[in-house]
Amino acid sequence: MQISDVSLRRSFTSRGDATIEATVKVGSIEATVTAPAGASTGEYEALHLPSGGYDSVLKSFKKGMLLGIDPLNFKDVSDALKKMDGTSNFSQIGGSTSFAISVASAVAGARASNMQFFETFHLKHQMPFPIGNVLGGGKHAGPGSPDIQEFLSCPVGAKSVFEAVSANIAVHHEVLKQIEKRDPTFAGGKGDEGAWAANIKDEDAIELVRSSIDAVSKQLGIRIIMGLDLAASTFYQNGVYNYSRKGKKLTSEEQLGYVENIIKKYDLKYIEDPFDEEDFEMFSRLTKSVNVMVIGDDIFVTDTKRLRKGISMRAGNGVILKVNQVGTLYDAELFAEEAEGAGFMVIASHRSGDTCDPYLAHIAVGVGAVLMKSGVVGGERISKLMELSKINDDNPQIALWRPII
Ligand code: PGA
Ligand code: ZN
Repeated sequence: MQISDVSLRRSFTSRGDATIEATVKVGSIEATVTAPAGASTGEYEALHLPSGGYDSVLKSFKKGMLLGIDPLNFKDVSDALKKMDGTSNFSQIGGSTSFAISVASAVAGARASNMQFFETFHLKHQMPFPIGNVLGGGKHAGPGSPDIQEFLSCPVGAKSVFEAVSANIAVHHEVLKQIEKRDPTFAGGKGDEGAWAANIKDEDAIELVRSSIDAVSKQLGIRIIMGLDLAASTFYQNGVYNYSRKGKKLTSEEQLGYVENIIKKYDLKYIEDPFDEEDFEMFSRLTKSVNVMVIGDDIFVTDTKRLRKGISMRAGNGVILKVNQVGTLYDAELFAEEAEGAGFMVIASHRSGDTCDPYLAHIAVGVGAVLMKSGVVGGERISKLMELSKINDDNPQIALWRPII
């Protein structure tokens, strides 16, 4: 089986970011994949697009380097893309091009072999729970919204992915009701990932989401845990955490105390990026002091080298995996393998600017993720959630993650 053709087109993400769509052909079978794009991007991520955009991508794109390769050989496809680009961060062809070709190759290869895409991964499969943001702030919403980027809900007591997705949607609706109660003038605005974007301060927002989750959990009789993605690098400036929207600046030490306090006070079970992406030390201290999921996104950027440092310092106990941060499925799979080998949990994640492609669900199951982070509503989020639900229904032999928190 060989890649017989590859073509590129211009496209857009759900936020309207320019991006790349790739079609890979394997004989008469083909697959088309469009790359997502982040807003709170880590410093060390692959570059989404070179400054010259699509025209510049086309100048560096050499289709011939991919022809003849086995589309299911993640390594060979990855090596060819790296050779074609020639830089360490895909600054010539763009991480978007690399992502789209890498995923489209595997999807086309799976189709040509009558396999499901998730079966082409080499790690132990697992059915993750969906985790999604029901209230948003930071770089995903406007100035009146919280400094904290994401307020997350995860129904770990659900018996199926469908039940979990339904529960998250119920929380989404409950959050709206509670926002409207506080602020009758709320116009129903949403942030980039479909979470409500309300004029509310961090702690009021945590309280509101806590009470919404508790109400739905009680009503449905399902355990639902709450989490936050602080995306703290986005407001770490000149050595302090600048909560500009609430007019407060915290030193690193104060930030640690603040995070420990809200974990305890609001019974949070999931904390993502509570510190700046360079502060491995603080990640490590928090992981020692609390018994919750401490997850690194911008700190690791799906990069195995940065992860090794994190593992050696126990800087967290889980990682976000975003294939477009590193550029290829091969490198993402190595990252997951390294994480799982060290006992770190893997959370497969969407981006704030995403597409209606459903493939994240297969990536999540394929790498044995414990959670799939992909929002709650919006076409580009629902496509992944319903694909995960379908995989769950069609493959009862793949067990749902059993939460350890
Ligand atoms: P991004 O944010 O896709 O805008 O980078 C998502 C996240 O931080 O988890
Ligand atoms: Zn994040």
